[in-house]
Amino acid sequence: MIPESTIADIKNRLDIEEVVADFVSLKRKGQNLWACCPFHNEKTPSFSVSPAKGFYKCFGCGRGGDAIDFVMEIEKLNYLEALRYLAKKYGIEIKEEELSEGELRAQSERESLYIALNFAKDYFRQNLLTTAEGKNIGQSYFKEREVADEIADKFALGYAQDQWDGLLKAAQAAGHTVEILEKAGLVIPKDERHYDRFRGRVIFPIHNVSGRVVAFGARALKKDDKPKYINSPETPVYQKSQVLYGLYQAKQAIRQQENCYLVEGYTDVTRLHQIGIENVVASSGTSLTTGQVQLVGRFSKQLTVLYDGDVAGLQASLRGIDIILANGLDVKVVLFPEGHDPDSYARAVGANEFKVFLTDNARDFIHFRLDLVKEQVGKDPLKKAAAIKDVVASIAQIPDHVKRLVYVKEASEILEMEERVLVGEMNKVLLKARQTPPAASEVPPLPATVAPAEEEITGTFDINNLIAFQERESIRLLLQYGFDKLAEGKPLYEFLFHELDDVVFTNPVHAEILREYKTLLGSGKVADAQYFIDHGSPEVRKAVIDIVHTRHQISNNWLDKYKIAIPVESDSYRLQKVVYSNIMRLKQRVVRKLLADNLEKIKAAADTAEQAELQMVHRALKQAEKEIAAHLGNVILK
Ligand code: GTP
Ligand code: MN
Repeated sequence: MIPESTIADIKNRLDIEEVVADFVSLKRKGQNLWACCPFHNEKTPSFSVSPAKGFYKCFGCGRGGDAIDFVMEIEKLNYLEALRYLAKKYGIEIKEEELSEGELRAQSERESLYIALNFAKDYFRQNLLTTAEGKNIGQSYFKEREVADEIADKFALGYAQDQWDGLLKAAQAAGHTVEILEKAGLVIPKDERHYDRFRGRVIFPIHNVSGRVVAFGARALKKDDKPKYINSPETPVYQKSQVLYGLYQAKQAIRQQENCYLVEGYTDVTRLHQIGIENVVASSGTSLTTGQVQLVGRFSKQLTVLYDGDVAGLQASLRGIDIILANGLDVKVVLFPEGHDPDSYARAVGANEFKVFLTDNARDFIHFRLDLVKEQVGKDPLKKAAAIKDVVASIAQIPDHVKRLVYVKEASEILEMEERVLVGEMNKVLLKARQTPPAASEVPPLPATVAPAEEEITGTFDINNLIAFQERESIRLLLQYGFDKLAEGKPLYEFLFHELDDVVFTNPVHAEILREYKTLLGSGKVADAQYFIDHGSPEVRKAVIDIVHTRHQISNNWLDKYKIAIPVESDSYRLQKVVYSNIMRLKQRVVRKLLADNLEKIKAAADTAEQAELQMVHRALKQAEKEIAAHLGNVILK
């Protein structure tokens, strides 16, 4: 139990801005601070912190609360554990009253794992510093690799003695159960007994972003010891794909430098710190995951990849970098001289020359790729074409369409190719990507990505036809799925009427159908296609028959031609996506029509006063158009 007075101390002392800033980079806008939400995937900030009120709130996913809620949510802790976390952060001592049996049991498994892992970290560190074997073997190893004491201290480097159960015995004596030690990945079961996973190796503890030890990397001491590294397995507190080595020690510097260096090895990270470069993390030899990129993205929107592989492996590695682009980060690359990794190169040339090398050699990733392609001019033309497609595919990953178009323009200059051709190639990639539905676990409720509008494909359109097209789609959805439940549990008609509140159907027949549908609904009856076909006026009947057959016609035309998958409208999430994108398209087109009409009026305006007024309308409409486009995640290709 934590005494009430201590809880009060913690609450008085804590500052939500400081608490949240350990996990995301906050930018001040007005009274509040903003960031991309750490709880859901987004590219523009909708997560806000109000220091005055002491609350956070995400307008995207709806999560919100005070600083304690934030810690509970992001660290997956219970209330007491969150308080302990905050006490530690603010150096407030907790004189805990004895835990009762019940409280001990209630202590979550996660917390027990953290405590056991922390014990192991201390144990390995003590072994390095105080035991004879640690001094003779562990310390000699670090000395030979020129790891400074303060760096070993900063990263809590340690040594596991060459014993079968050194850690097991010590941990059991300190009250940790074998079950927890095994679950933490520290010991391995064999024939009803257990033995230490890490033996006779130097130890690199792996911290999560808030500084808790979640895993270990253990390096062999001799060249021919295999494997070179033994790492912790995945555990409830360690998911490899969500952790980056060194992020905890780097995050402050990443924020300040607005850049993060990415290296491969643990020793690259420690070396860079030692020469004064602290904004560095390691992928630990595996390819980067979306989760890891998003983790970096909380602190900086720029990542610089320090590539130390040979040229043969380059092409494959470059493809892995696309995941960084896809998450909206800017990417630079630095290639190291062959045979060197950042650690060995820094040791070879020293701190100053190394830093100069980094600044001189950091190149924008796309420009770097374009130059690689250019070098292939005059070589195999088929290879060149494939290389161009590759770069364009990378550019297509960039979520920001303005950035995309800038790169395409540059590509057309550097490669001396027509921009139109490259845009066409890029659109192919974009269309293909949008066909692939997101994995169920990654599906955000709204807004959703949608198939491109037909004007993006054909390049020509008549706004009135397009509005009519969207109106028909709304009616079709209403007639076919009006009472189906959407992801949020509401029936489709309710959602649709709510969203269409400010839209008036331009086509009189469409307007009539909508009116009739609402009237019927008011008297508790359901209107479906059959109803209108049986009871409607000749125009309405014709329109409804047309509408319910539309899908088929479309699929024969451009949908088929451009291989656009028609969304399966059977599950609630998909259905919601379809309705939502339809409504947004409709609004988009109505706004565009208003813009066009207004432009005509501006041209015909009698005097400057009238013109100024119309200009204001123009700006408001432009703003609306922008907001709608943002909702649609639209690519407007001109
Ligand atoms: P040094 O050789 O001591 O400089 O180590 P390093 O960290 O530079 O290692 P290297 O460049 O060979 O590998 C990069 C990273 O890949 C390492 O830091 C490890 O995280 C990982 N790694 C390398 N070898 C192994 C291995 O045998 N097993 C596992 N699980 N990971 C490895
Ligand atoms: Mn190395």
